[in-house]
Amino acid sequence: MTNYTELWVNRDDFRSTKIAQRENPPLSDGEIRVSIDKFGLTANNVSYALTGDMIGYWKAYPVNSEDNEPWGRVPAWGCADVIESNCDDIAVGERLWGFFPMASHAVLKAGKVKPERFLDISEHRRALATLYNTYRRTDAEPELVKQFENERCLFLPSLGTSFIVYDYLVDNHLFGAEQVLIGSASSKTGFGVAKMLRSDANVDPKLVGITSPGNRDFVEGLGCFDQVVLYGEEDQIDASKPTAYIDMSGDVRLTTAVHKHVGENVVCSSLVGASHWEQGGEVGELPGAEPTFFFAPTQFAKRQKEWGESVLMMKAMQTSFAVAADIKKLMSIEWINDPKTLQKTWLDLLDNRVPASRGLMVSLA
Ligand SMILES: NC(=O)c1ccc[n+]([C@@H]2O[C@H](COP(=O)([O-])OP(=O)(O)OC[C@H]3O[C@@H](n4cnc5c(N)ncnc54)[C@H](OP(=O)(O)O)[C@@H]3O)[C@@H](O)[C@H]2O)c1
Repeated sequence: MTNYTELWVNRDDFRSTKIAQRENPPLSDGEIRVSIDKFGLTANNVSYALTGDMIGYWKAYPVNSEDNEPWGRVPAWGCADVIESNCDDIAVGERLWGFFPMASHAVLKAGKVKPERFLDISEHRRALATLYNTYRRTDAEPELVKQFENERCLFLPSLGTSFIVYDYLVDNHLFGAEQVLIGSASSKTGFGVAKMLRSDANVDPKLVGITSPGNRDFVEGLGCFDQVVLYGEEDQIDASKPTAYIDMSGDVRLTTAVHKHVGENVVCSSLVGASHWEQGGEVGELPGAEPTFFFAPTQFAKRQKEWGESVLMMKAMQTSFAVAADIKKLMSIEWINDPKTLQKTWLDLLDNRVPASRGLMVSLA
């Protein structure tokens, strides 16, 4: 009998975790059991926990625990194989890409099945956006895409967002900015935006990466930034240029410092991420354009309408994989194969002990 191994995270205290092992739950009609071959782990997964109640990520794989602790399963993007099926349209042996728990196995309820994808139609997942309930049936995909499985797990969720942010900036003529500042520049989502702007021959802003001392060499080595500025040294930024500020840190101190220094020359201020997950909060009244949360689905829907979904997906994938290939030499991919190491690495992520040069892939199956 298959035993499940899972990492549970306390929804009220992310540093409290538990390795849970249990026997196969039985499958109901329409359900499939998957063995999770691998998934990527980044600061994005910490953000899923942070916004788990607000956006509903905890609802993807809810836990009914016997100890009454508020345990949750943090989702991650990965690849899995179907090992048992109670769904006529999904065969044992199929390979999937999608949103899985940090675990060895999971049960999905397949519905709205198409040759290239299906949705998990479980009642508890209704509140989640379609993006998170969609599972790609990768056997139907071109060989070229299949070769980039690891990149797809580790980079695509972040670089796909970079693409939407980059496209939003270009679509709006950079809001008139001559300079783009990236907060938490060593994050995949952050440097992805910079790399994409740098590769676009139609735009030429000054690109400034803001990062921590430990990630400075990595950010300089990316070769896409004209200037690298450390946290606390924001006064080194040229305040005379119209400036777009794209922030992956969610750090209130940083947003405040940038706006106070650049002043009315901040022409766009987009809050995309929260990698500094314990430094968030309300920003007060600040000079320059009002900081606003970047809502990727809005730009996504606009381009879906203008370009069509397949063209949009192809552009996003091509641009993202080009960045992933470009930075391969700068990043090592490390494999985590046991739950105890995953438990420790989760704490490392929470406490900023994972340098940007380490790409984390996990396999508990
Ligand atoms: N809105 C969206 O749709 C969307 C989509 C994808 C990602 N994002 C967000 O973008 C952010 C980055 O995600 P990613 O996947 O690109 O992450 P990533 O590559 O794992 O980011 C790693 C970087 O984040 C900073 N960092 C990580 N953990 C930290 C901690 N505990 N304390 C302080 N800094 C920490 C460090 O950068 P520095 O030293 O340079 O600060 C680190 O090098 C996340 O908050 C994520 O939620 C948003």
